[in-house]
Amino acid sequence: MKIAVIQGPNLNMLGAREQHIYGPMTMDQIHDQMKASGEQSGTELEFFQSNLEGEIVDRIQECMGTVDAILINPAAYSHTSIAITDALNAVGLPVVEVHISNIYKREEFRQKSLTATASTGVVTGFGPFGYHMGLIALTQIVNEVQAANAAQEEAQAQAE
Ligand code: DQA
Repeated sequence: MKIAVIQGPNLNMLGAREQHIYGPMTMDQIHDQMKASGEQSGTELEFFQSNLEGEIVDRIQECMGTVDAILINPAAYSHTSIAITDALNAVGLPVVEVHISNIYKREEFRQKSLTATASTGVVTGFGPFGYHMGLIALTQIVNEVQAANAAQEEAQAQAE
């Protein structure tokens, strides 16, 4: 199983940026932990970070036919980006949106996520551990999709 991990603007500054909100872990440390747990469950992870909306749209489009699911923290673009929301809807893959902080506990402008409308589910407020939770959820969802597809193929083969 292959999962794309997509990080939005300013998440490359984790560890240095507003530690009282996002904690001390750097993005690379978060990715290292995810890689270790991915290896245990046989999940391959592809990491990507960009501060540019168009690059994130391009990366999401590339996911079609190349990965099984997307784990994304669109960061500030969650609250503004119709383009990223459209791209997530376009590729039709399982998506989990992660926020390190609890966006519902913060400023009003953060309490609405456009991109979440294109996500299977959202994890918000559990710190960097949220990425791990999102990974577990996506692994389960992809396994269920693959099992359902296999059952359908078998039923079709028997009917022929
Ligand atoms: C964030 C929350 C967003 O509102 C903010 O713009 C971020 C990080 C989070 O992970 O908590 O950059 O997505």
